[in-house]
Amino acid sequence: MWSSKLAFILAVSGSAVGLGNVWKFPYITGENGGGAFVIVYLICVFAIGLPIMMSEVLIGRRGRRNPIATMRLVGEEESGSSKWQLVGGMGVIGGFMILSFYSVVAGWALAYIFKSATGAFTGTNAAEVGAIFDGLTANWPVLLAWHTLFMAMTVFIVARGVQRGLEQAVQILMPALGVLLVILLFYSISEGNFAEGVNYLFRADFSKLTWDSVLVALGHAFFTLSVGMGAVMAYGAYLPASASIPGTSVAVVFADTGIALLAGLVIFPIVFANGLAPGEGPGLIFQALPLAFGQMPGGVIFATLFFLLLSFAAWTSSIGLIEPAVAWLVERYEQSRVQAASMVGATVWVLGVGSVLSFNLLADFKFWRGTIFDNLDHLASNIMLPLGGLLISVFAGWVMCRNSTSEELDMGTGVAYSTWRFLARFVAPIIVLVIFLNSSGFIGWVQGLSNGG
Ligand code: PFF
Repeated sequence: MWSSKLAFILAVSGSAVGLGNVWKFPYITGENGGGAFVIVYLICVFAIGLPIMMSEVLIGRRGRRNPIATMRLVGEEESGSSKWQLVGGMGVIGGFMILSFYSVVAGWALAYIFKSATGAFTGTNAAEVGAIFDGLTANWPVLLAWHTLFMAMTVFIVARGVQRGLEQAVQILMPALGVLLVILLFYSISEGNFAEGVNYLFRADFSKLTWDSVLVALGHAFFTLSVGMGAVMAYGAYLPASASIPGTSVAVVFADTGIALLAGLVIFPIVFANGLAPGEGPGLIFQALPLAFGQMPGGVIFATLFFLLLSFAAWTSSIGLIEPAVAWLVERYEQSRVQAASMVGATVWVLGVGSVLSFNLLADFKFWRGTIFDNLDHLASNIMLPLGGLLISVFAGWVMCRNSTSEELDMGTGVAYSTWRFLARFVAPIIVLVIFLNSSGFIGWVQGLSNGG
């Protein structure tokens, strides 16, 4: 059990706030043209992500087991069918896939702690920070070493168990990351091209938005909140019966969104002031931020601290990615936590080698969405998470009876509860479905047919 409601909020925000907010949100916003993408992302977060997060916590607390067993148990209880465990199973696999590339990027953050501390960025220009980043990603043995270290750190903390492992660390370091971002915001306001950054982030030009970008925004809403794969369900399993699910979920969603927007407000003004390209790709923050750190007084300390906190945020998120699988092995096969965490960690590590090589030896090996790294990200984040989320909301909204959900949510039967139920039953599933069908080209195909080909 979590020792308090605050501990639970911190742990779920620890899982939610991570590379998704600081690394992924700015770079995919840049790749998808800014403002309109951000609006779609925000709509997805509040209209879909929030109700699904509440659904996951309530299912988790009802089942009180790992996501697979929880879905089986609650599924049998509510509908007599054990098939719902497949949703938990898909989540476990999605978590594996995400962690495999997540760990590689977290490895970049770890590497940057040392680069920052040794003053590698002091006085550098845009070309030089670009060369430092390219130099790192080109060197596969070094990337592999950082990936290995990060996976070892993840296995270590998960093996220690929920309370001792997670709680203590999250309480200080998460707020510290927020404070550091606020300090950086002041730098961006005074030294960056703040007006252009804000304009880029919030001025929506929907004419440029494609269905593919909408799918990326949807996928990111799931990714950033850690929902759709049972991670939050696994955390909900340890939530005391007295804690309020709506209250905690709302707090987490606001904290997560706040950190992402803050990161965007820090990064884009620096990007524009230095003539970097917003659509630069996964290296965006690893180039924009060192440039800023290299120019500011005390930059070495700020940079070191920043990458330390970013690595830490990635660490607390990686726990959420691996916990469903570990909890499943422990409960189903009666393995020790150490054994289970090591086994899962080793499997994820092997998968991660594909992402390590995507930036060097296999950089030209492209299919479907791009490199192995791009494909793992797209399949897990933009397809499996939304699909998992869709099934979870259908489960909570349609399969579970009203009494069970209203009892867990404890919101009474008034407007708040009805709003949640409406979002879970209709809004979330329908929007996810519409986005899936459009981005896969299915709707265009049907329209083509009805227009006579
Ligand atoms: N929400 C994390 C981030 O934004 O970095 C990523 C993540 C963690 C996704 C845990 C899913 C998860 F279960």
